[in-house]
Amino acid sequence: MKKQTVKEILQNYKKILHHDITIYGWVKAFRSNRFIALNDGSTINNLQIVVDFENFDKKIIDKINTASSLKVIGEVIESQGAGQSVEIIAKKITILGDHFAEELQNTILQPKKHSLEKLREQAHLRFRTNLFGAVFRVRHAVSFAIHQFFNQNHFFYIHTPIITGADAEGAGEMFGVTNFNLNQIPKTENGDIDFSQDFFGRKTNLTVSGQLEGETAAMGLGRIYTFGPTFRAENSNTARHLAEFWMIEPEVAFNNLEDNIDLAEDFLKYIIGYVLEHCKDDLEFLDKRFTEEQKSKPEKERAKESLIEKLQNVVAKRFIRVSYTEAIEILSNSKENKKGKFQYPVEKWGTDLQSEHERYLVEKHFESPVVLFDYPKDIKAFYMKLNEDGKTVAAMDVLFPGIGEIIGGSEREARFDVLKQRMSEMNVDEHELWWYLDTRKFGSVPHAGFGLGLERLVIFITGMSNIRDVIPFPRTPKNAEF
Ligand code: 4AD
Ligand code: MG
Repeated sequence: MKKQTVKEILQNYKKILHHDITIYGWVKAFRSNRFIALNDGSTINNLQIVVDFENFDKKIIDKINTASSLKVIGEVIESQGAGQSVEIIAKKITILGDHFAEELQNTILQPKKHSLEKLREQAHLRFRTNLFGAVFRVRHAVSFAIHQFFNQNHFFYIHTPIITGADAEGAGEMFGVTNFNLNQIPKTENGDIDFSQDFFGRKTNLTVSGQLEGETAAMGLGRIYTFGPTFRAENSNTARHLAEFWMIEPEVAFNNLEDNIDLAEDFLKYIIGYVLEHCKDDLEFLDKRFTEEQKSKPEKERAKESLIEKLQNVVAKRFIRVSYTEAIEILSNSKENKKGKFQYPVEKWGTDLQSEHERYLVEKHFESPVVLFDYPKDIKAFYMKLNEDGKTVAAMDVLFPGIGEIIGGSEREARFDVLKQRMSEMNVDEHELWWYLDTRKFGSVPHAGFGLGLERLVIFITGMSNIRDVIPFPRTPKNAEF
């Protein structure tokens, strides 16, 4: 018979009652030398194995401990005890992997509460914990829902390059890619680094966004999206920034800014709705943890809703849409601003919004996800469509409670002349981006797209507070362990 996961057994046990089955997993707990809680990672729920120790070699029983891995053959019966519907009467137990008892003492596999920091130090083991099992199953569901949403809406998945020769997006500091011997870097006569001798014969970097290449694909395929790793060498040690994160970037021919905002809203709601429907057990667990965590916060900072309520409300409510100009008015007239409570006071039109401002709008003023649009051109990228006022561009940011910016996007500048002008104003090398400009020469069309930071969405959905806890092996300044 095909191997069955614990999840399948728990779901379908009625069909296999009184049959012998084989199961595999790790011991989560071994109570009274009689009840093993076995888990194989497929679900947060454990399968109870009943061990009549008189029928087993004592040597085997003695070796069973938290963290050992087992193969068990046993009969499926309806549970006698409370707390589970099914259990397995063990007939044969094989220990697959022993545990190193002394070292186990120092690991997070010891069954007690460990801090998230400690869990991060042992990121290679944290998949085994209930919390990280739940987080990474949800991360999977989010990724799957993203592909499903786009597939259902006739988008094509495009793999844009990870190593790129263009460093013009302006999205952040880039990591260089080279195979030079760093002790002997070839120089030109002027003393500059001679990249013509490097692997690609030019300077190359890790991508900060697949957008520009994505746009070229949308100019033939119509609706595309990218979903890939993204690298930014910003020295931001915050709970919202990673040096390596995953970004999803749809790009749609013939869409304008409003279509783009509609797409972003539908997209986020679809993903959250999918997780609410398909990850009930994990969400219930995360919801309890979230509620517990709120208790340790000062009353003022506590969330008003449970995690699940928060997700349900985001799906149910229409996102508030306000222009940057309106937002600046709201912020500059706010009590917070007048009383000097913002670290960065809001003084004049044209300044970039800080995350404290974004969070004020979302969490205090509107108490809803907010889409800000039409930003001053000087604080946004060169490729955004210049509006008729000549001052703003057709940009949009989606702001979420507890997170701030979760999506950034825009309608693109489709007019060749205007784009060229904007590139020169913003010192973007038009020779380097000749291929990008080409798309505006041959059947240019209005188009729009955005980027979603996968980890920011996963923080929101799981209720975790640090981005390092929603990616298996976080990359942050001074940290690339594992
Ligand atoms: O706003 P950003 O920089 O937009 C772009 O890169 C555009 N090219 C997107 C597009 O229009 N196709 O980044 C998009 C999103 C942000 O809203 C944020 O969620 C996430 O990517 N993000 C990060 N996530 C984690 N760590 C970082 N350092 C991030 N920088 C951006
Ligand atoms: Mg942005």
